[in-house]
Amino acid sequence: MSGAAAPRRAGLVTGAGSGIGRATALRFARDGAAVAVLDIDADAAAETAESIREDGGEALAVTVDIADERAVAAAVERTVASFGGLDFAVNNAGLASHHRRLDEMAPEEFERVVRVNLTGTFHCMRYELPALRARGGGAIVNVASNGGLYAIPTAPAYVAAKHGIVGLTKVAAVDYAPQGIRVNAVCPGPTRTPGFEAVAAGTDMIAMQASITPLGRLATPEEAAAAAVWLCSDDASYVTGIALSVDGGRRA
Ligand SMILES: NC(=O)c1ccc[n+]([C@@H]2O[C@H](COP(=O)([O-])OP(=O)(O)OC[C@H]3O[C@@H](n4cnc5c(N)ncnc54)[C@H](O)[C@@H]3O)[C@@H](O)[C@H]2O)c1
Repeated sequence: MSGAAAPRRAGLVTGAGSGIGRATALRFARDGAAVAVLDIDADAAAETAESIREDGGEALAVTVDIADERAVAAAVERTVASFGGLDFAVNNAGLASHHRRLDEMAPEEFERVVRVNLTGTFHCMRYELPALRARGGGAIVNVASNGGLYAIPTAPAYVAAKHGIVGLTKVAAVDYAPQGIRVNAVCPGPTRTPGFEAVAAGTDMIAMQASITPLGRLATPEEAAAAAVWLCSDDASYVTGIALSVDGGRRA
């Protein structure tokens, strides 16, 4: 006698049109989950969703700017309506800033980087948490950075925003644990994504970063994705409030 099939888990990944977010969405789908692919770039979101469907998975592409609170609310609502609920969310969308010392950084640049990386993550969590609670529990992973744990010279806005994400993660982990919601952060070191490759183009950044990394190379997007997927899985059922470095040993 075979029992009823387990219901398909459902989740969302922001910034899933590229890099770590794309690899995370593809990995969740391969593991059998229905995945909402959220990105500010409509074509990129559609492409990731199409790849998932071509592999036999279930995906929904949603165009959203995470800095826009109302758009985030609508995106989470659409995900829940399409999949019948939310079991996990990976808040990965983010951007880097120009390298400047603090006194050379325009306030507008500081605010732009914080608005997307930190306030955007806050918006996502604000609407995901009630959806997870309605499901009886679940997991959130916020993609911070090793810059959420220590200084990256000349990146004051990015480092402040990523430290803020680690802070949000810890507070939410404590506040929502009684409701069965785990909240963790992944802190990647340099990872060979389209975003990173664009910044590194024409520089010796990749060789330099590899030379100061104990494992001797940069991460692949799939290696960062694997950590996020694990933190959302039942295998991490007793893990909450951590900021997990995926950095080839840099933090050590
Ligand atoms: N690649 C690295 O070396 C590295 C290291 C540490 C942390 N991170 C973090 O990992 C995350 C993903 O980085 P990546 O390297 O894969 O980047 P990427 O540039 O390759 O992809 C980022 C995706 O996010 C989307 N996006 C940007 N702003 C958005 C917004 N306002 N709303 C919705 N979507 C938006 C982009 O369109 C893009 O598809 C970021 O939060 C980044 O800070 C990356």
